[in-house]
Amino acid sequence: MTEAQEYKWAIVAEGLHRQYGTLQVLKGVTLSIEKGKMVAIVGKSGSGKSTLLHILGTLDSPDSGSVSICGMPVTGLKSKALASLRSKHLGFVFQFHHLLPEFTALENIAMPALITGMKKKEAFKRAGDLLGYLQLSARSDHKPNQLSGGEQQRVAIGRALMNEPDIILADEPSGNLDTETSIQVHQLLRSITTDMGKSLVIVTHNADLAALSDHIYEMKDGLLIS
Ligand SMILES: Nc1ncnc2c1ncn2[C@@H]1O[C@H](COP(=O)(O)OP(=O)(O)OP(=O)(O)O)[C@@H](O)[C@H]1O
Ligand SMILES: [Mg+2]
Repeated sequence: MTEAQEYKWAIVAEGLHRQYGTLQVLKGVTLSIEKGKMVAIVGKSGSGKSTLLHILGTLDSPDSGSVSICGMPVTGLKSKALASLRSKHLGFVFQFHHLLPEFTALENIAMPALITGMKKKEAFKRAGDLLGYLQLSARSDHKPNQLSGGEQQRVAIGRALMNEPDIILADEPSGNLDTETSIQVHQLLRSITTDMGKSLVIVTHNADLAALSDHIYEMKDGLLIS
C-alpha cells in the first residue's frame, strides 16, 4: 500500500450498507470528514452509530460501499494491511477504556508503540510527554484501578495518541462519566483537534458535548442526516 500523500479528506465513506441477518442497520451512509475537523454522530440507541464507527475504523467491513482513510481506499484490503493501516493512522477511544489492569498509566500509553517495535526508552519518553499534556504526570505509576474514571479515560486518550494517528474515533468516550468529567474529556478531545490537527469522529448521546464539534450528524433510519 502507498503511504498517505497530502490529502484533504480524512475519511470518505460512500454508500455504506450493513445488515445483521434481516436487520438493515446502514442503508447507504455517505460521509466525508475533512482533515483537522471534529465531527459528532448522535442518534438513538440501536440506530447504528457503533456499527458505522467500526466500519469507518476498518474494524468491520460493509456489505457494500467504500471507505477511504487519509486518501487511501481501504475496502477489500487484507487483515494484515488493515492492521498496519490502523496502527499508523487511527486511534480508538471506547466507552469502557479497556486499559490493561496489570500495567501502569505510563505503560498503557506506551503499549501501542511497544507493540509496533519502538524502543522502550523512546516509547516511555513519548508516553511521559503525553501524560504531561493530559495533566496526569503525577499518576504515571498508577495502575488503572488506582485512577478515577476520568483519569482512566484520559489515559485511554493518551494511548490512542501514542502512535501519532491522523484520525481518532471515539465511541461514547464519556458515556460512563459524570457530567463535569465528561465535559473535561470532550474539551480534551476538542483541544486535540485544535492543537494537533487531528481529525476526530465522536459518537455521543450528549447534545452539549456534540455541540463542541464542527459538524453534527444524526443516525436515523439507517441514514446519516446532517
Ligand atoms: N454483531 C451483531 N450481530 C447482530 N446484530 C447486531 C450486531 N451488532 C449490532 N447489532 C444490531 O444492530 C443495531 C445497531 O447497533 P449499534 O451498536 O450500531 O447501535 P448504536 O447506535 O451504537 O446503539 P447504542 O447507542 O446503544 O450504542 C442494533 O439493533 C444491534 O442490536
Ligand atoms: Mg453504540
